[in-house]
Parts: sequence; C-alpha cells; structure tokens
Amino acid sequence: MINTDQSSAGKPSIFVTRRWPADAEAELSQYFIPTFNLDDRPLSAAEMAAGFASHDAIAPTVSDKIGADIITAGANGKGRLIANFGVGVNHIDLGAAAAAGIAVSNTPGVLTDATADLALTLILMLSRRAGEGERELRAGEWQGWRPTHLMGRALQGKTLGIIGMGRIGKAVAQRAALGFGMKIVFYNRSRIDDISAYPARQLDDVESVCQIADCLSLHCAASADTFHILNAERLAMMKPDAYVINTARGDVIDETALAAALSAKQLGGAGLDVFQGEPVIDPVLLAAPNTVLLPHLGSATIETRTAMGLKVVENACAFFAGQPLIDPV
Ligand code: DGY
Repeated sequence: MINTDQSSAGKPSIFVTRRWPADAEAELSQYFIPTFNLDDRPLSAAEMAAGFASHDAIAPTVSDKIGADIITAGANGKGRLIANFGVGVNHIDLGAAAAAGIAVSNTPGVLTDATADLALTLILMLSRRAGEGERELRAGEWQGWRPTHLMGRALQGKTLGIIGMGRIGKAVAQRAALGFGMKIVFYNRSRIDDISAYPARQLDDVESVCQIADCLSLHCAASADTFHILNAERLAMMKPDAYVINTARGDVIDETALAAALSAKQLGGAGLDVFQGEPVIDPVLLAAPNTVLLPHLGSATIETRTAMGLKVVENACAFFAGQPLIDPV
C-alpha cells in the first residue's frame, strides 16, 4: 500500500500522505526518497506519526490533521520539516511545531486563480440557478422554455462584499468587477492601498460589508480570530436576497446559523466549497434551500495541483540545502 523507493539512497526522505499529480510526484522523486500512499486513502494519526518519525520530512495536505502527537513523534524521530501541500495550515498545530523546532512551509500564490475561478463559479451557479436547472432537467421535469422559468438575477451593478482581501480576495474582486461589472466593497484587517484597476471600497468593519453586499464572499484564513466570523448576528444584517460564498474554510461560517437563515428565507442562497468537519456535511446544511455545495474543489485543476506539488518540492529542497524556506509559515 505504501511504497518506499529506496533506489535513491543519500537523498532526504519524505513521507507523502496523499497522491499528487504525476508530474509533481516525478519531480519530488528526483530530489527525495519519497514514500507515497499508493492507495490514496486517508491515513490514521498513528500512520502519519510513524511516517514522520521515520522520514526527514512529511508532506501532508489540508485534509490531514497534524496534531501535537504526530509532530512530537516526528521530532523524536527523524522528522524536521512539515512541507504542506496547500496554502491553508489550520490543520497543523503550529504551536507544537514551533515548540518542537519543526519547520513548516506551505504553497501560497499558485492556487489563487483556480480558487478565485471557483468562487465565481459558485456566484454564477447561484445567481443563474444552474444547480436547480440541472437537477430539474436530469429528473425529467423540464417542461420547456417559458418566460418565467427559473429566473435568476443579474450580477451587473450588484455589490460584491469580500471578507479578507488577500491574494484570492483580490482575484475574485478583479473578476467580479472587470468581468461582470460588480461593485466591490471589502473588509480587511489591515489597510489595502494597492487596488487601482477597478473601483473597490474598503469598509471599517465586517458588519458594514454584510449590510451592503448582494453577494458576500469569504476569503480570510481560518484562525481563532476568524472562527465563525460570519455568525447569526451578522447573517441577520444581510439583505434577504443576498448570497453567501465560502471557498476559504468551513470554520469561518457558523453553518447552523447559515442553515437557519436560509430556511427562514432571511438569505437568498449559499455557495459553499468548504465545510466544518468535511468531508462530513452537517445534515441541516444539506437540507437547507437554495445552496450549491461542492467538495472542496477550489484548487482542483491539474495545473494548480501540479504547481502546488512543485512548491512543496522547492521548499523542501531549500530546507535540506540549508537555505531559508521559500514559503515559511
Ligand atoms: C488550500 O490549499 O488551503 C486549499 O484549501 C486547497 O484547495
């Protein structure tokens, strides 16, 4: 199941928790002795702990919980680096890594466009009722074209609110403003001064963005500060026909409150690519009306997933060459 290729002895070893695109695995194999999870099944904490302890590095991904137990096992064995395949690191106990002297890297930048494209996919699917339409057609229930059938809403002139104006937030804003004629308002902890290609207004608080947005898209990293940043109180401030889009992390939305707001028609709809506790989806969310739910596909293009793997390789190469990490966390 797990294969260790010992043919390139002398190179650092790396334990890879899930399969990567072929080109990225090939690149990794040039510089490291990799152990691949050939079955591509989720590994247990005990398997990852044993893997990290017996390799110089571990390359986990966003669905692996890398807790203190795994980090300690690694540090007590051979492990020196956690080279994460993904930009989000909320699944890694960074405090435990720092305490154990284990370095951590991630893969920022290369998944910006893919994730922004997926946020726009969700916005369009909701506003044009594409999910509903496809379900109706496949169920054999389409009764033909008629002027009032499945009318959605135009994006032109509507206001997109963004929470978290980092790389992905900006890429979404650019697409929405320049591609679809939307107005942009956003909240970001620090002042953003480098947007000039399209009009965008930074507001002072999350509440102001919630109140004004026809569509609210979350792009903040998951942290203690952003846990349930979209909560019942803020949902209640939104327009009754507004959409909520989440391609960031499930933790940033109170899903129970979101499902309740949808059911009570206090909100127009939600497009979600990430979930608290994924891959298990809260049944209240599954039952909520007017949702488009995707299985964490934000970065899922062959180009992006390959680039993410190559970023892991670059970081691990730098680390084992004694150079600073390119993307330290
Ligand atoms: C990440 O890298 O954090 C993304 O969520 C994966 O798509």
